[in-house]
Amino acid sequence: AAVLGLWAVVGYLMGSIPFGLVLARVMGLGNLREIGSGNIGATNVLRTGNRTAAALTLVLDGAKGAVAVLLARAFTGEDAAQLAGLMAFLGHCYPVWLGFRGGKGVATFLGLMLALVWPVGVASCLTWLVGAVTTRVSSMAALLAAALSTGWMILLGDGGTLTLGITLTLLVFWRHRANIGRLKAGTEPKIGQKD
Ligand code: G3P
Repeated sequence: AAVLGLWAVVGYLMGSIPFGLVLARVMGLGNLREIGSGNIGATNVLRTGNRTAAALTLVLDGAKGAVAVLLARAFTGEDAAQLAGLMAFLGHCYPVWLGFRGGKGVATFLGLMLALVWPVGVASCLTWLVGAVTTRVSSMAALLAAALSTGWMILLGDGGTLTLGITLTLLVFWRHRANIGRLKAGTEPKIGQKD
């Protein structure tokens, strides 16, 4: 139990690194909180107009979830890997450094899924991509990918990660409540649009 607790802390701390916020600051793009949705994720970094920063944010926010899973798996095992992945996701959404006001978890969710059950991760990334290309709305793509990931889990997973997958799906929806409101109102911006 003690070693699981350790992975929970490591996962959380890794997840809580707000790469988008840090990159936007060091690259001189401004304070993300005052841009677009105010979110710390890659979608909002793109609203600064800097594609490189947005791509880096996407990759690093995904990588922190994947690395947490892979480290915990290598040193301890599958239960530790799931816990570290979940905690990385929670760290991204609720980072202690930002008064627990973090991101929406999409990149971290995709990254940890790729590491945990790679076929489900690949299918979820493709779902996001198809959603993004067809709707041009990042939050819509995220909600589609999160919702369908449960189906991909059932089809491509081994059953052992289904509870975690459903938990993450519900959390992604919860974190997108403001986006869901804007989608209903028809005011959610397209990818790359400022508002
Ligand atoms: O990854 C978050 C994305 O789904 C929505 O971001 O900035 O449009 O709220 P944003």
